[in-house]
Amino acid sequence: MNSTQDLVTPLLAWFDANRRDLPWRRTRDTYAIWISEAMLQQTRVETVIPYWERFLERFPTVADLARASEDDVLAAWSGLGYYRRARSLQRAAQVVDGELGGCFPTTREGWLALPGVGPYTAGALLSIAMGRREPVVDGNVSRVFARLFGLESPLGSGPLLRETWRLAGELVPAERPGDWNQAVMELGATVCAAREPRCGECPLAGACRARLEGRTAELPAAAEKAPAIDVELEVLWLEREGAVAARRRPDTGRMASLWELPTREIPAAGARARLFPERLAPFADGARLRAGRVLGEVRHSITRHRIRVVVRAASAVSGSSKPPGGDAALVWIPREELLARPHTGMTAKILGSCFVPGGAPADGIRYPSRSR
Ligand code: ADE
Repeated sequence: MNSTQDLVTPLLAWFDANRRDLPWRRTRDTYAIWISEAMLQQTRVETVIPYWERFLERFPTVADLARASEDDVLAAWSGLGYYRRARSLQRAAQVVDGELGGCFPTTREGWLALPGVGPYTAGALLSIAMGRREPVVDGNVSRVFARLFGLESPLGSGPLLRETWRLAGELVPAERPGDWNQAVMELGATVCAAREPRCGECPLAGACRARLEGRTAELPAAAEKAPAIDVELEVLWLEREGAVAARRRPDTGRMASLWELPTREIPAAGARARLFPERLAPFADGARLRAGRVLGEVRHSITRHRIRVVVRAASAVSGSSKPPGGDAALVWIPREELLARPHTGMTAKILGSCFVPGGAPADGIRYPSRSR
């Protein structure tokens, strides 16, 4: 068994020589680091960089974020997905700006009390921004430790997480805890990759159980994958004088408050709709959309739902439909404005496709036959 120092010294030396030059590593500003850690959860570094830069230009301080409109925050987050994170981030900023008088928490309990802040974010901010001896665990850390210590439990399982947190807590050094935590994550992201790890470049190869036993391909054991769920949607495209029919989603639940094109689900025979309503909302005056010819087809996925979207041209028929209450009705929005408002990923994909007027070819799209 290695002593802690046998791991800490070589990994920190490796980090000093190999750390990626990321913009949030050039600041000591807790707020800026917080935004980076919130964005980095489930999103790759290369994707995050331009979002982080724009977000900090738009909201340079925690007070700016706290006092912004939710729409502005969601628009700045648009494309990163996981919009609940953006909303929680703003609510947490409001607590810091208001109840905490603009001061960030300095304890784990303090951070954990903020909306949307879990053990990962609390550990990352305390160690990276504040120099506290606190561990972090994410998917990269779990993989590195599973190999280094030969942990057998499957990826993402409770036992692997508990064991990884325990080890992370033991290993994190009092000196440079933030660099240590980032070094483990960085090793996982760049060297101890899920597939084809580059053990020849690893500063811990000599101490790695999986490496010594020839089991790097087996560890960590794969998580049992939940089966995909097939969903069929119909999206209607109606454009009139440069404006399209669209709707804002309800302000709770999945993809809350984001704009989308009129969408309904066609449930499989005998099944109930899973993601979208079966009926389309009408306009506030009771007019309804009527589906016309097929324009094209898009594939999309939301969590484990594998979605086939058929896009159809539509017409509006005045009718006596009872108008929905509140904001639920369809409205007309200038076409260009739809993408300037916070919108769903599926909406962006459809507007980026060549079969809607003015659209452009995008990946994952099958084009319909041009004949009518
Ligand atoms: N992944 C998430 N946050 C990170 C950080 N600060 N350094 C390296 N990888 C990370």
